[in-house]
Amino acid sequence: MAEVVIVENAEAAGALVAAEIVGLIDARPDAVLGLATGSTPLPVYQALRTRLAGRDVSRVRGFALDEYVGLDPAHPESYRSVITRDVVEPLGLDPRRIHVPDGAQETIRHAGSDYEAAIDAAGGVDLQILGIGTDGHIGFNEPGSSFASRTRVKTLTAQTREDNARFFDSIDDVPMHCITQGLGTILRARHLVLLAFGEGKAQAVADAVEGPLSAILPGSAIQLHPHATVVVDEAAASRLALSDYYRYTFANKPSWQGI
Ligand code: PGA
Repeated sequence: MAEVVIVENAEAAGALVAAEIVGLIDARPDAVLGLATGSTPLPVYQALRTRLAGRDVSRVRGFALDEYVGLDPAHPESYRSVITRDVVEPLGLDPRRIHVPDGAQETIRHAGSDYEAAIDAAGGVDLQILGIGTDGHIGFNEPGSSFASRTRVKTLTAQTREDNARFFDSIDDVPMHCITQGLGTILRARHLVLLAFGEGKAQAVADAVEGPLSAILPGSAIQLHPHATVVVDEAAASRLALSDYYRYTFANKPSWQGI
């Protein structure tokens, strides 16, 4: 099962995950990070700003999870723009080493297999940061996604379009399609770190960690991974049946082990 770490707040989660990423980069200066967009990973990127300052990050590589289809990459809400603004620029990463799936209509038919090939050529993702949608999606793998899925085009659910409408002028401006790493792609990363904060994510977290393995609960795919860490605040942990056990095991974890 995934290791669940219940922390006081999002800032503490950011510090914990950032420390793991810094350790990874120290050990492997050309580490491959799996980058997530959305509000959830922001505390990690915030914590990395100070922790990576002064370190050489010129060789760090990264792959984003997903992108909207048909949105100009220069649009402020394209995930290319978001990753540039939230991650690449503040952390001083080399933009040529940071990949985002290509959502251009003209090349969309082979964009998925191109992205898979690029991840393989990089030797795979070392640490994949994940958020989780209120409907349980990871990446943009909406309910029903195959656990074996690869990077491909998906139709966003009405709920996800509503959740993301806050970034656009109106819900009509939220694209209907996305290109996302598949659940099978995500499961190939060597370490999964899923973060979630707030009561609104509590059910999705409980389903992902303790629910049955089911395509209707895409987050439950993490149960198949040998090294998955779930970092949540109290509110997002509130529906976990085994929360006392998770607290007990983390409190008694050997200090050398990391997350
Ligand atoms: P959020 O999105 O981090 O903005 O809540 C999570 C997701 O949709 O995966």
